[in-house]
Amino acid sequence: MRCFRPIVIAAALTLTAHTSAAQNTRSTRDGVFTHEQAVAGKDIYLGFCQSCHTAISHTGAPFKEHWVGKPLSDLYNYIITLMPKSAPGTLEPEQANIVLAYILKLNGMPEGNEPLPADAAPLKQIRIELTASHAGPPHDR
Ligand code: HEC
Repeated sequence: MRCFRPIVIAAALTLTAHTSAAQNTRSTRDGVFTHEQAVAGKDIYLGFCQSCHTAISHTGAPFKEHWVGKPLSDLYNYIITLMPKSAPGTLEPEQANIVLAYILKLNGMPEGNEPLPADAAPLKQIRIELTASHAGPPHDR
């Protein structure tokens, strides 16, 4: 009986650590948008964004420097409040949301079964992370 208690405490600590890690580790590597969203987002992008941007402005070094490691809500809020620069704030949440799915797709992130929510609060729980094949040389990861 004397050595029973430490084991219980250790088990409880392991469980707590596991739960909080699971909440924090959801990322854009986990299939957070659907194929349909990325396809529909491309249409929005072509209509509202392409006049000023090319895909290159949302991928590679600029994307890595500005967005990797941040919550997905940062990029969503940026788009919905500041873009399109010619008419900021004119996108509907659903439009900003699918254009975001398209930008993730451009960065090689995987599609999933769950649609990306059109709301900053749940997006805050998802970290922007590149997949290994888009992350660049190993020392950058
Ligand atoms: C009228 C031109 C224009 C349009 C249209 C436009 N943008 Fe932009 N966008 C800019 C400029 C210029 C910047 C650089 C930051 C600034 O000056 O505000 C920018 C910056 C951005 C950034 C940040 C880039 C980075 O460094 O990571 C994102 C993301 C973005 N735009 C997304 C969009 C999306 C999505 C749309 C369409 C819904 C869009 N933009 C439409 C001009 C435009």
